[in-house]
Amino acid sequence: MYKTIFITGTPCTGKTTVSEVLSAHLNCRLVKINDLAIENDFVLGIDEDKGYKVIDIDALDGKVSELINDELTIFEGHLSHLCHGADKVIVLRVKPEILEERLKARDYSDSKIRENLEAEALGVCTAEAFDIHGENVSEIDVSGMSVDEIVESVVDVIEGKTEYSVGEIDFMNFLL
Ligand SMILES: Nc1ncnc2c1ncn2[C@@H]1O[C@H](COP(=O)(O)OP(=O)(O)OP(=O)(O)O)[C@@H](O)[C@H]1O
Ligand SMILES: [Mg+2]
Repeated sequence: MYKTIFITGTPCTGKTTVSEVLSAHLNCRLVKINDLAIENDFVLGIDEDKGYKVIDIDALDGKVSELINDELTIFEGHLSHLCHGADKVIVLRVKPEILEERLKARDYSDSKIRENLEAEALGVCTAEAFDIHGENVSEIDVSGMSVDEIVESVVDVIEGKTEYSVGEIDFMNFLL
């Protein structure tokens, strides 16, 4: 059983939704990385072009390291994989065609939606996570799955029952 779990993925892949149900199911600690960054004032500024917060990753990484202990803990957020200390990093992947509907439901600009869809098609989070965490990364294609089904799959990874190794998922045809 892995103890320090990072859950990451492109915006709108369901990290927060899944992590809330998961932490209740496992009765474990949940740390929301976005909240951590805001509460601790790790926001360096706003990228005006892209409309997102620029976060001090080194400071965030330091804070995450401070919080890691022997308790089973879920750290969730799209920056979690840029931090260190995970026993397991789980990347939630969603087909860009499905992700598009969810991103459009938010008040994101067209360029921000496009940027996120391209990042998902290219597997940017997985690549970044693999750079830092190597074989400790698992990625799950959760397209079309219910939250409960996703939680079940994530539990299987945390319990070491299923591997979900990196490299099986290919959403590149979205870019063609
Ligand atoms: N399995 C699912 N099936 C259908 N809709 C889902 C599923 N999981 C999440 N959603 C919906 O997708 C939207 C985004 O979910 P959520 O906020 O959990 O994503 P997130 O990865 O935490 O996004 P962000 O990176 O912006 O924090 C929400 O409207 C949520 O209800
Ligand atoms: Mg979220």
